Amino acid sequence: MYKLIAFDAYGTLFDVYSMGKLAEELFPGNGQPFALMWRDRQIEYTRLVTMSDPNPGGSKHYLPFWELTVRSLRYVCKRMKLNLTPEYEERLMGQYAKLTGFEDSLSVLKTIKNKDISTAILSNGSTEMLATVVESNGLTAYLDKVVTVEEIRLFKTAPQSYELLLKAFPVSREEVLFVSSNAWDALAAKWFGFDVFWVNRLGHPFEEIGEKPNYEGSSLSKVLELI
Ligand code: LAC
Repeated sequence: MYKLIAFDAYGTLFDVYSMGKLAEELFPGNGQPFALMWRDRQIEYTRLVTMSDPNPGGSKHYLPFWELTVRSLRYVCKRMKLNLTPEYEERLMGQYAKLTGFEDSLSVLKTIKNKDISTAILSNGSTEMLATVVESNGLTAYLDKVVTVEEIRLFKTAPQSYELLLKAFPVSREEVLFVSSNAWDALAAKWFGFDVFWVNRLGHPFEEIGEKPNYEGSSLSKVLELI
């Protein structure tokens, strides 16, 4: 029986690819590829920052996730030759700040809390951006803690990032179920020693390296079948 169920935030509880709709309005014909490339570049920056100085005291190249999100937005627009006006940047980042949750995010957290299991987010996101998106989706009451990598200044998939959960809750690794829709995140959490549920909404193949997740499901709600 799990004592803590911890969720990744962006892509897992909150729909990052919904940015494609606004992007399509601003950059007709480019919405989807733009949203994909933005997400990839954002994650690539987190890895670059972490791997280039994996210092236990934090990376000297660290920038908050919000800042990396803005910088990757600017990069992708340049690369795709899209005209990112200050107004467009404000609209895109404004929507990012209040990303919509998936339809079952709230009900899943609520049900888990009702069973007396602790709930958390473990995210690369910066404290303020996470507080905003959690609040705007009405999730605050159903999360015991929102754990961010900000204090260690290293992003996932540094093992120190997953370890933050063990510092935040009086639980052992075996008592944690980690839920992520990002295969790379699911894989790294598994390597760290957590049991993992991979939310595979798009029917993608899992990574070709490492161990398979303990569980896989097409929606967040499938997590409830485990408890
Ligand atoms: C998160 C991103 C990486 O940590 O999905 O929330």
